[in-house]
Amino acid sequence: MYELPVLEPKLPLKALAVMTSGGDAPGMNAAIRGVVRTALNHGIEVYGIKRGFSGLLEDDMQLLDSQSVSNIVQRGGTFLKSDRCEAFKQPEVRAKTAQILRQKSIDGLVVIGGDGSLTGAHLLEEETGFATIGIPGTIDNDIFGSDDTIGFDTAVNTALDAIDRIRDTAHSHERHFLVEVMGRNSGFIATHVGIAAGAEMIVVPEHALDLEALSLQLASSRVAGHGSSGIIVVAEGKIPGLTGRLAEQLRIHGQKPHVCILGHIQRGGSPTGHDRVLASCLGAMAVKYLLAGYSDIMVGVRDGRIVDTPLDDLLRYRKGLDPELLNIALQLHR
Ligand code: F6P
Repeated sequence: MYELPVLEPKLPLKALAVMTSGGDAPGMNAAIRGVVRTALNHGIEVYGIKRGFSGLLEDDMQLLDSQSVSNIVQRGGTFLKSDRCEAFKQPEVRAKTAQILRQKSIDGLVVIGGDGSLTGAHLLEEETGFATIGIPGTIDNDIFGSDDTIGFDTAVNTALDAIDRIRDTAHSHERHFLVEVMGRNSGFIATHVGIAAGAEMIVVPEHALDLEALSLQLASSRVAGHGSSGIIVVAEGKIPGLTGRLAEQLRIHGQKPHVCILGHIQRGGSPTGHDRVLASCLGAMAVKYLLAGYSDIMVGVRDGRIVDTPLDDLLRYRKGLDPELLNIALQLHR
């Protein structure tokens, strides 16, 4: 459970808007519900914006009532839908969206999304003075200022379930499997899944890949007569096709790995209890921060406490993957 800050309501907010933006993540619906019901309990109207910043630009939003968010806490995806909006990278487009929000007498905007979306929320505030609050929603868990992000726990468990099944076949046929998980820029999913699945090796974008060492390690475990099957978890990385190329090179070194790309199944599905609680608390607290007069911050979780981080910190700092976690993974499979 989280330790929650006590915030005094200071602003008489009339209306706020909420959107989900970027890649969807399980738990986003629970976060929207948290925002909507908390706002309504404080007598604040809530507009639900469709398709993130793209919908905002087209003034595609509707007033939500308590009923609009019933029966969604358990659903994956986002009922408001989501988008990656290229146009929002232009300052004049951001100015137009602030106008749209002000015309409707909306006092604040809650953005639930990843790095790019929260950076958009920061720029909107910085350039137009429109109050924004961010909530970290991405399966990647790569957001500075929060130990955890909405969807990460569900994605890890979904990938883990798949790998447990793959391991049955790997063991029966004495084969190695390269299992690709999501994570273009970060290896959080790969590392957590790798540890939980007892993977023989974990490949993450944060560390250079030593193919030679990898091949030798696989070969020696075969020769030693143990570990003739195994799971190597590979984060997808920036360049598409990494896992296929890795398999190709391992074949050159005499290995016969199978490749399994888990892909978007990791983004869907019913959120875990952990993600539902996290999302509900962050959604509720986002409204309380707005009421207390905060803006241009992200509401996240650190050391078990709900905390705020200036949104521009996300531009300046990167959340690093603890190398010790990878060491633990390596030590445990020996
Ligand atoms: O940011 C979340 C994420 O799922 C990444 O892990 C992945 O690289 C990317 O989105 C995929 O995005 P898209 O669905 O737009 O291809």
